[in-house]
Amino acid sequence: MTLEDDLKATVRAIQDYPKPGIVFRDITTLLGNAWAFRRAVDELVQPWAGSKIDKVAGMEARGFILGGAVAHQVSAGFVPIRKKGKLPHTTVRIAYSLEYGLDEMEMHADAIKPGERVILIDDLIATGGTAEGAVKLLRQIGADVVAACFIIDLPELGGAAKLRAMDVPVRTLMTFD
Ligand code: PRP
Ligand code: ADE
Repeated sequence: MTLEDDLKATVRAIQDYPKPGIVFRDITTLLGNAWAFRRAVDELVQPWAGSKIDKVAGMEARGFILGGAVAHQVSAGFVPIRKKGKLPHTTVRIAYSLEYGLDEMEMHADAIKPGERVILIDDLIATGGTAEGAVKLLRQIGADVVAACFIIDLPELGGAAKLRAMDVPVRTLMTFD
């Protein structure tokens, strides 16, 4: 068994959630496994160990759990990217689509200073709509997006390729068809 196989074994599949035809990859079982949670966080940012990272940006909601742990790991600040209407100060906002819907996300306009080096974190990349929106917001306020890291890639949906086409290095720990 490889590390990918061992980590994959901790992710649960839920058929037809949240909509018919979607196989939902549930990471709560990975997060609840002490070995898997620690190992996934360590592996996600291993290529940037020792590099200067100013901020980790995490996407609501599962990106908050991982992003907080990663920020601690690389001694960076944490910046939440939230669904609309949740942040109290001046925001930048963008509409986006994902595998099963449409939404808007926002972040505080002063959360990152121009030129700061940022790693974007989420649990999963599918169509890449969410991550693409986040990269656009980060770049709008002048961030240098060093990488985007996800535990799970669904490559058939093309999200990782979409981010790489935007010149964002992408790291993922496992794929599902
Ligand atoms: C999920 C996942 C990613 C996004 C990926 O979040 O955590 O953020 O979908 O899909 P995409 O690559 O097609 O954009 P969701 O919007 O379900 O939010 P949640 O974490 O609040 O449940
Ligand atoms: N976000 C988008 N597609 C998803 C899936 N299949 N499982 C979990 N989260 C997702």
